[in-house]
Amino acid sequence: MPTIEEARKFYPPSDGVHGFDHVERVYHMAEKIGKAEGADLEVIHAAALLHDVEGSAPGKKERANHHEQSADFAAKVLHQEGWPEERIKAVQHCIRAHRYRDIGEAPQSLEAKCLFDADKLDVLGAIGVARTIAYAVMAGTPPYEEPSEQFIKTGIEIPGELHSAYHEYLFKLIKVRERLFTQTARKIAGQRHNFLIQYFEQLKAEMRGEK
Ligand SMILES: [Fe+2]
Ligand SMILES: [Fe+2]
Repeated sequence: MPTIEEARKFYPPSDGVHGFDHVERVYHMAEKIGKAEGADLEVIHAAALLHDVEGSAPGKKERANHHEQSADFAAKVLHQEGWPEERIKAVQHCIRAHRYRDIGEAPQSLEAKCLFDADKLDVLGAIGVARTIAYAVMAGTPPYEEPSEQFIKTGIEIPGELHSAYHEYLFKLIKVRERLFTQTARKIAGQRHNFLIQYFEQLKAEMRGEK
């Protein structure tokens, strides 16, 4: 398995959203959840270090497929290190199943659930707010735009409506807590979820001139 320092070299030097600082947080959080839940920590460590290695920066065409590409990359790295096929597959499953928007491969193994939960905890709380705003800025959309009635009901923007950070909060972040698999992560998510709501509701009030 690559060490943390070896894995760092696979990632772009500055990416405020899916850069290596995110990977390091996910690595430590997945380890914490994995220990509490009794998971295979070697599989979790390898999967966490490599889960966003390919094409995860916003605006890149491959973003939608970054979980598949990162799983392929992981297989190459672990083959070179002589990992048995079965354990490589276990790591690949964790990586393929970490994407929130993809219903293709849901987390089945305990290790995949731990990685999924650790990755999602990183979109909640203060760090989640910082990353969501950074992602919007990098994608050229504002922190806040008044969401349309249609977006609130369906999650689909009307023509010309920008998917602001606030849209992402309504569309995804507010629902993340319910999607977590492990008890350990759900416990950690409680306070982060409340902070997230407080931040985005304050943002909305300020943008409307109400506060
Ligand atoms: Fe990812
Ligand atoms: Fe990630």
